[in-house]
Amino acid sequence: MKVLVIDTIAPEGLAFLTERGFQVEQVSSKLPREELFATIADYEAIITRSSTTVTPEFLSHASRLRILGRAGVGVDNIDIEACSRQGVVVANAPYGNVVSAAEHTVGMMLALVRKIPQAHDALKQLRWDRGIYGSELFRKTAGVIGLGKVGSRVAARLKAFEMEVLVYDPYIPESRARDLGVRLTDLGTLLGHSDIITVHVPLTDETENMIAARELALMKPGVRLVNCARGGIVQEGDLLAALETLRKNAPRLLKFSRALTAPDWFKEYGFVIGLVAFFLLASFAGVGNPHLRSAIQPGETVLDLGSGAGLDAIIASWGAGASGNVIGVDLNPSMCLKAQAHAAASGSRMECHQGRMEDIPLPDRSVDVVISNGVVNLSFRKRKVIEELFRVLKPGGRLSITDIVSAKQLSQSIVNDPKLWAS
Ligand SMILES: NC(=O)c1ccc[n+]([C@@H]2O[C@H](COP(=O)([O-])OP(=O)(O)OC[C@H]3O[C@@H](n4cnc5c(N)ncnc54)[C@H](O)[C@@H]3O)[C@@H](O)[C@H]2O)c1
Repeated sequence: MKVLVIDTIAPEGLAFLTERGFQVEQVSSKLPREELFATIADYEAIITRSSTTVTPEFLSHASRLRILGRAGVGVDNIDIEACSRQGVVVANAPYGNVVSAAEHTVGMMLALVRKIPQAHDALKQLRWDRGIYGSELFRKTAGVIGLGKVGSRVAARLKAFEMEVLVYDPYIPESRARDLGVRLTDLGTLLGHSDIITVHVPLTDETENMIAARELALMKPGVRLVNCARGGIVQEGDLLAALETLRKNAPRLLKFSRALTAPDWFKEYGFVIGLVAFFLLASFAGVGNPHLRSAIQPGETVLDLGSGAGLDAIIASWGAGASGNVIGVDLNPSMCLKAQAHAAASGSRMECHQGRMEDIPLPDRSVDVVISNGVVNLSFRKRKVIEELFRVLKPGGRLSITDIVSAKQLSQSIVNDPKLWAS
C-alpha cells in the first residue's frame, strides 16, 4: 500500500510503516494546492497533521484514498462527513500528544506568571533587571475549560501546584471532576473567579469564539489566559480590544528601580562587606534614582510611605526653588521630624503623620503619586495598606511600589472600582 505523509512526522513513525512493507513518501504541507492535488491521486493512505485541510475538493483528487490518518488529536481540519461519503476511514491519534500538550500548557502558565519571556528578553539585552517580579501559581485559582484528555491532565498537574481548580465542561459527569479533586462550575463563575484560565475544548461550531467580548469582560483584572487548544476559540479581535482598553485605563506605574543591587556589591567586595554595604546603601538608593527624579513634577502631592531617604530624592527631584506637597507616613517619629526638616529647607510643604498607614485618616483621592519603597512588605496588614494607598490616589494618579504584592492582596473593591481605574 502506498502511504503519503503530508508534513513531517517522527522518523520512528516512518520506520514503523516501512518495516511493515508500506511504500512511504513524504511531502511538505506547504506544497502549492494544485501540486498537492496532483500528488494525492496516487495514494491509498494519507497521513496529515493540523496544517492540511481535507475538504471535498481535496477528496475529489484522492480517488484511490481508503484511509486518512491524522497524526494528532484534533480533526477539525478534516471534513469527516465528506470522507464518510467517499468511504474513507478517518483515524486520529487521540492520546498521541496529550501529555505534551498538557505539559506545554503548564509551561506557558509558568512562563506567564514568572514573567520568564520578559526576564529572558532583558538578559539578552544584557540587562540584569531585578525589578521583574513574578508571582506564583500556588494557592491561586485556575479555570480549566474542557476536562477531556488534555484538560484533565492539566488539572491534575495544577493540583500539584496546590491551586484551586475550577472546571467548565457541560458534557462530563460531576464524578469525573470529583475524582480529580476539581470543582465543576458554570462558565460565568469560572471566568469571574479564576486567576489563570486555560482552554482545552475542541474547535467546533459551539466553541468557536466561545471566549469573546462578553466573556473577557467577566474575567478578573490581571487574569492570565492560555489557549493551547486551537485558534478561533478565543475571539482575537475582542481580546485585542480588551487589552487595549486595559492599557488605556490602567494607572500609570512608575518604574522605580534601585540604583544599586546586591550582586554588584557581592562581586566587588565579597559577601560580608557586600551585604553590609548593600543594606546601608539600599536605604539611600532613592537619592540616585533617575526614574524618580524625572517622574514627579513640582507642585504635585506625593505620599511617601516610610519617610526615609526616599523623601530626600523626591525633594531633590523638584530642583532648586520648586516645591510640592509631601505627606509622609512613618511609624518612627524621628524619621518624620527629619523628613520635615529636609522639606522645610527646600521650601516644600511637608505633612508628617506618625503611625501606620491604615490608621491615618487621609482624604480620598488627594494624592498624585504614592511611593512605597519596601514598606508595604513590612506591614502586618498588607492588603489593608494597599487598599488605603489606592483610596488616597487621585484618578489617573501614579503608584510606585517596590514591594512584592500578590494578586490576592488586591481586594475586589480595588479591582472593581471603575473610578479608581479611570484615567
Ligand atoms: N496544541 C496541541 O498540541 C494540542 C494537542 C492536543 C489537543 N489539542 C486541542 O485540544 C483539544 C482538546 O483535546 P483533548 O484531547 O483534551 O480532547 P477531548 O475530546 O478529550 O476533550 C475535549 C473536552 O472538551 C469538552 N467540551 C466540548 N465542547 C465544550 C464546550 N462547548 N464547553 C466546554 N467543554 C466542552 C468535552 O466535553 C471534552 O471533555 C483538541 O480538540 C485539540 O483541538 C491541541
